[in-house]
Amino acid sequence: MIKTAAEVCPLCEGTGWKTLPANPGSHKNTNTSTNASSNKDRRVTRCDCQLRARAGTLLSAARIPKRYEHCELASYTTDFPGAHPSLAFAYVSAAKFAQEYDPRAGTGLLVIGKIGTGKTHLAVAIIKELILNKGIACLFYDYRELLKEIQNSYNAAVQTTELDVLRPVFETDVLVLDELGAVKPTEWVWDTVSLILNTRYNNNRTTIITTNFEDQPAAGANGSGSAVRAATRAETLGDRIGERMRSRLHEMCRVIKMEGEDFRQKFRSASFR
Ligand SMILES: Nc1ncnc2c1ncn2[C@@H]1O[C@H](COP(=O)(O)OP(=O)(O)O)[C@@H](O)[C@H]1O
Ligand SMILES: [Mg+2]
Ligand SMILES: [Zn+2]
Repeated sequence: MIKTAAEVCPLCEGTGWKTLPANPGSHKNTNTSTNASSNKDRRVTRCDCQLRARAGTLLSAARIPKRYEHCELASYTTDFPGAHPSLAFAYVSAAKFAQEYDPRAGTGLLVIGKIGTGKTHLAVAIIKELILNKGIACLFYDYRELLKEIQNSYNAAVQTTELDVLRPVFETDVLVLDELGAVKPTEWVWDTVSLILNTRYNNNRTTIITTNFEDQPAAGANGSGSAVRAATRAETLGDRIGERMRSRLHEMCRVIKMEGEDFRQKFRSASFR
């Protein structure tokens, strides 16, 4: 397709590269720098139009669900009557995480809190920052959805294989795994979540996890109580993903706790979304 003049980027004239301003410190002999050597010393970099195009591609590949598309750091508020102090702390941690993200470190986040405290909002806000400002490849997956897709791939009538589903989950720079533990645990669920999280951990890839379950041991772990007490207490993250995996998560992630009421209940009639 031939581009019309209006479509050609004025910064790079469609080459995708733009010239950096000359670095005056790069020459010992400034007298000779103007003519012969100026061309070879010209430094170029990716044009803004290329970065924008990449961000657009990454954003549509990230699978952020429609109902969370509005979630950004800028649209997250900690300034409402009765806001729990942990929310402001969570916001600062999230912003700092996005700003200081180091692809080699691989340290993720484990965001814990009751429903409606804003966990998914912050997780999505972080990956949007990383995509738009740093061109990092990110992927959002609801835990239930991911396990369902893997399970569907075993169905002979379905064209995808288990690895078709898992490859991007293993390989993306930053994975959001939303609502960890929300599927009723079985041996298969434990094995699958361990495979995913351990593979990412071993390859130094960053995972951002949210969960509604309390970060407490599994029933019976470390003598944590009688069977009777286990039966009457609320289920914990340890119960849902296994105690080994829970403790591994603490090696992989920094913990952010979010407390307070369900934001939606509180602002049902207000202008917040
Ligand atoms: N502090 C906040 N500022 C702005 N919107 C919020 C805040 N907390 C929650 N929300 C909004 O409330 C809804 C529920 O939040 P969500 O992140 O889905 O909660 P959780 O994942 O903890 O259950 C979302 O639409 C989200 O954008
Ligand atoms: Mg959520
Ligand atoms: Zn350009």
